[in-house]
Amino acid sequence: MEKLTLDDIKEYLETKYIGRNIIYLDTTTSTNDIIKEMAEKGAQEGLIVVAEEQTKGRGRMGRRWITGKGKALAVSILLKPDIKPDICQAITSLIGLSAVKAIRKATNYDIMIKWPNDLVLNNKKLGGILTEMTMEGMKVKYIIIGLGLNINQEVFDGDIKNIAVSLKSFSGKKFDRRIILSEILNYFETDYENFKKYGLEYFLEDIKKYSIIFGKEISVIDGNKIINGKVVDIDKEGVLILKTLDGELRKIISGDVIMEGLYNIHTNKI
Ligand code: BTN
Repeated sequence: MEKLTLDDIKEYLETKYIGRNIIYLDTTTSTNDIIKEMAEKGAQEGLIVVAEEQTKGRGRMGRRWITGKGKALAVSILLKPDIKPDICQAITSLIGLSAVKAIRKATNYDIMIKWPNDLVLNNKKLGGILTEMTMEGMKVKYIIIGLGLNINQEVFDGDIKNIAVSLKSFSGKKFDRRIILSEILNYFETDYENFKKYGLEYFLEDIKKYSIIFGKEISVIDGNKIINGKVVDIDKEGVLILKTLDGELRKIISGDVIMEGLYNIHTNKI
């Protein structure tokens, strides 16, 4: 198993500050929690925490996230941007795009984004993003991006059996995690710099191009509300714009997207 220390990845890493400081752990609770502790102690922007195994890996909406020991990627990135607090969704869209470009480059596979935070391959979930923000007064103190990616797992059990995919389970080929991690950090640093200058608007064309739900009929579940409609736009905050059956445009800030054929969902209408 390849390790993911700075020494191990530096021959592939082209960044100035993202990933130039790496905490590499064999096993931990959650990389997002460890990096939060470090941030509270004054860690610098660009620090990343990588773990081979997480005992309390977290997904969105309080879900569990399982990291196949030594076979997956569980990484958190610390950011300290001087930007407005309503930026979390945009940062999630941004890292999603960087990861898609990076994994496409490393594999040539048709990786897509399922808004807001999933990476998709072959209509199954290849990875997920959990962005968490801490405020100080009205300002962003720091942002933590957690990225979980399935790479060399061969099988998936339990609830995720029909939903999850890894690069290996899809192709039968084993991938070098050092290259995948480095490429993601390489793309992300450049994208993050441009994001700070030009905002998410700069990336919208690519975000829409790689969105698996763009132009499609979907349902969004947010709490106990379900909204059906066609995805007609993604705006410069990363918000989804749905056109409902009665022609109304609805802004969707968060929620779970359900789409025919994706994650083994087959239904006419929810
Ligand atoms: C999701 O799909 O709901 C998001 C999954 C995010 C998982 C990553 S793995 C690294 C980081 N540490 C965590 O506990 N979660 C994120």
